[in-house]
Amino acid sequence: MSKEQQDKSEVLQSLRWEKDALSLLDQRLLPEEIVYLRLTSPQDVWAAIRELKVRGAPAIGIAAAYGVVLGVADSIADSQTWEAEVNRHAEYLATSRPTAVNLFWALDRMKARARNLALSGTPAAEAKKALLAEAQLIQAEDEATNRLIGEHALTLFKDGMGILTHCNAGGLATAKYGTALAPFYLALEQGIHLKVFADETRPVLQGARLTAFELQQAGVDVTLICDNMAGHVMSKGWIQAVIVGTDRVAANGDVANKIGTYSVAVLAKAHNIPFYVACPLSTIDLSTPTGADIPIEERHADEVSIGFGKRTAPQGVAVYNPAFDITPNEYVTAIITEKGIIQAPYDINLKNLFNN
Ligand code: MRU
Repeated sequence: MSKEQQDKSEVLQSLRWEKDALSLLDQRLLPEEIVYLRLTSPQDVWAAIRELKVRGAPAIGIAAAYGVVLGVADSIADSQTWEAEVNRHAEYLATSRPTAVNLFWALDRMKARARNLALSGTPAAEAKKALLAEAQLIQAEDEATNRLIGEHALTLFKDGMGILTHCNAGGLATAKYGTALAPFYLALEQGIHLKVFADETRPVLQGARLTAFELQQAGVDVTLICDNMAGHVMSKGWIQAVIVGTDRVAANGDVANKIGTYSVAVLAKAHNIPFYVACPLSTIDLSTPTGADIPIEERHADEVSIGFGKRTAPQGVAVYNPAFDITPNEYVTAIITEKGIIQAPYDINLKNLFNN
């Protein structure tokens, strides 16, 4: 793995395929440093996902797809055994993080492509190129999808509204635009003024380090608050809507997202503020019945106790550090997808989204 420094004024892309390698923005270093890593193996990609160098549900799916491409790049397998290699790399990459379903969705898509290539007897050299094209297609589709999500979401917002978001579901978490942040980029293009409040999002500060950074860079009106200030700004009447991304939506409409999302949803309900969730169809998992069935990642205690580069809690204290929580469907006003905006009853309406 090698590193490349970039000028702060350039438009930031979370990841891109470049010269036979995956060029990936190290999000752990933001906002202080802009460094692109050159990843050349599935092991590099696995570690980048696990260590949050790349994070956000769609972005980790795209990264993992490229990880599969890197896995077979130097393979000398013949077309018979080549598919088994793809599957082995995909299974390995799937162990990097458990909650965001986009990771498994993207890997399944790569496996399905490899299956087709094997069935059609495509020679390994040609199949490798086709697999790269598939990963690039996943990335391009994500960008187009997010723009559509942004268009639908923007119909819910009016000039002058204050909107709160939690974590980072922006361009950095996706191929471009983001999901929850997409309407803010589109509003900017259309001269609609929205005032965004970004929760800092403890413990690893995706809101402060990433959302505040990317919106400020783009010229969106963004104000950073600590997580425990959300109720206060709502009570002042400054927030007319909440919009967040998600790592997985269960078949009944329960939503897994960054830890703290549930508290924001409860606060929104208490203040009669609509709570919107923005996501592509690839984040909706009809095979997971309810939120209780979504695996919640638990991360290292150091993220909580040495969170700001220094020890902020006594050595050895017990720490509980779940990375995500579940917002029950009754708190979700609507789910905004590339196919439009859906509301309760989610069990029926989510199913219909895939049937139509
Ligand atoms: O732990 P992270 O930073 O990967 O968590 C990210 C989130 O919770 C996002 O809100 C979610 O993945 C949606 S990104 C479009």
